[in-house]
Amino acid sequence: MCGIVGYVGHREVVPLLMDGLRRLEYRGYDSAGVVAVENGAFQTSKAEGKLDRLKEKLETAPVHGQYGLGHTRWATHGPPSERNAHPMVDSRGRVALIHNGIIENFLPLKKRLIAEGWTFKSDTDTEVVANLISSYLDGDLPSAVARALSELEGMYAFAVVTNTGAGQQIVAARQGPPLVIGLAQGEQFLASDPSALLVHTKDVIFLENGDLAVLTPERVTVQDRHGRPVERPVQHLTWDPIQAEKGGYKHFMLKEIHEQTQAVQDTFAGRVDFENARILLDSVQITEDELRHIERIHILACGTSWHSGLIGKFLIEHIARIPVEVDYGSEYRYRDPIVDARVLAVGISQSGETADTISAMEAARERGARLFTICNVLGSQATRISEGVIYTHAGPEIGVASTKAFTTQLVALYLLALYLRQVKTGAVERHYLDALAHLPLAIDEVIRLQEKPMAEMAKKHHRAENFLYLGRGINYPIALEGALKLKEISYIHAEGYPAGEMKHGPIALIDEDLPVVAIATGNDLLFEKVKSNLQEVNARDGVVIALTDRDEEELGGICDEVITVPTVSPLLQPIINVIPLQLLAYFTGLRRGADVDQPRNLAKSVTVE
Ligand code: G6P
Repeated sequence: MCGIVGYVGHREVVPLLMDGLRRLEYRGYDSAGVVAVENGAFQTSKAEGKLDRLKEKLETAPVHGQYGLGHTRWATHGPPSERNAHPMVDSRGRVALIHNGIIENFLPLKKRLIAEGWTFKSDTDTEVVANLISSYLDGDLPSAVARALSELEGMYAFAVVTNTGAGQQIVAARQGPPLVIGLAQGEQFLASDPSALLVHTKDVIFLENGDLAVLTPERVTVQDRHGRPVERPVQHLTWDPIQAEKGGYKHFMLKEIHEQTQAVQDTFAGRVDFENARILLDSVQITEDELRHIERIHILACGTSWHSGLIGKFLIEHIARIPVEVDYGSEYRYRDPIVDARVLAVGISQSGETADTISAMEAARERGARLFTICNVLGSQATRISEGVIYTHAGPEIGVASTKAFTTQLVALYLLALYLRQVKTGAVERHYLDALAHLPLAIDEVIRLQEKPMAEMAKKHHRAENFLYLGRGINYPIALEGALKLKEISYIHAEGYPAGEMKHGPIALIDEDLPVVAIATGNDLLFEKVKSNLQEVNARDGVVIALTDRDEEELGGICDEVITVPTVSPLLQPIINVIPLQLLAYFTGLRRGADVDQPRNLAKSVTVE
């Protein structure tokens, strides 16, 4: 949801900004822009569309400077256009500003500024902030920013520079969306996300809400919302910058699908004592005694993370026998949920910055719930407000459509369920752990065996206008996730449905042009039920595609196509089952010429409501 980068130091700034923006482009690609400051003058360049457009522009009309800012935009106020691209320079040409978020009171501020003689060239709320800061600028940029901040309502992260003789200086402020500062010798970096900094430094400071930071080549100072100087801890990140590159794959999405074997293993490694059959969770500040008093769990999440929450409900209820509700963050915060200190609210978020999830977590906390998160990004907002964190060790996920973050979330939920069982009953049975140990090999196998067949299947069906995904029980959310992946990546309309509900609606859609992907794994009663549902599709000439770990004959010989997957424990089977569906979505998107890593209108991290 908009990417921010900044640099102060001794190097030529534009290549550094462009490199940082390239790593952040997943946050928005409606427009991009840079400002460099040289000899006290702004040099800006902006372009509508993807970063390459800006790159081309800079090749023909380069800009230079030793410090500056860069931005990649996901449009909120005002359509995607060069006019609305950041950086925004105020109407007296004294400050340049980039911004992520939404200023809710921008209209009254704009009216007031217009009355004071300030003018506007764009439709954005950002330009209002640029003019507001400039209206208070009297030599000292940090003071002008602090004064402007006190009048802003909404969620924002921004960075601003001035050409009025303050020397090399960036002022950054955060209220909501993330900002991280990278520390190095004689130079400092600023970004929305650590992946943009990792090639330069691994020592970072995450700004807190209300913080205002001043970056100069020599030092970084931070003050809190009351203007008091504060020391934010320097954290040393362990992410490998190479991990954030494509590593020989055509797309990040395909690379990240392949990384699931390792990512899943990394997520349980060190947290399972196989010898003594125990789950060891670090980063949990809620005591075991307090956890024993938890009577209900509320899972809060958005998008793909919400799908993992739906599976989490099965895992926790089955393993730990604690009732679970699963809510969209955007619904929970507005629905007056019944919460007290016996509720454990678990926010699931790859980025840890999704505004709706964070607000829902805060709403739960305000009503007395204890707060827990499953998250992939160290130091993100979700982790900072929670009393317990299980990090998914997926490494940076760049593809906008989530893959390895999802499967590692499922592993983290499994660990949480086992941990709660251990706390309640004193032990976890060894078979749960053995099942986990077997998982990476099975993931490796399904990727190896299904990559080519899924490319073939995509070739066959990529012209379909609709897809239906069916599943039951713990695999129903996988039907939802399969459908979500396909529509995100290929723009084909797809629906996920509980197979048993098909007869109450989607059955009307079935004809010879509708591929129906049914998840039919396991050997229990539900398998038999899905089989009957497939008969119903077959009887109406639908294209039956079964994803199964059983022999084709066991499905009654009615399948047009079969996706074969290895068998693992039924509680972990969704992790295996989703992988061919990720591959199918990827290859279908590719066939249709879609931009699979950066699908239209989406953003990786949605930091606005
Ligand atoms: C966006 C992304 C999805 C993601 C969702 C929640 O919509 O495109 O892939 O699942 O946000 O993100 P989070 O970081 O909270 O998991």
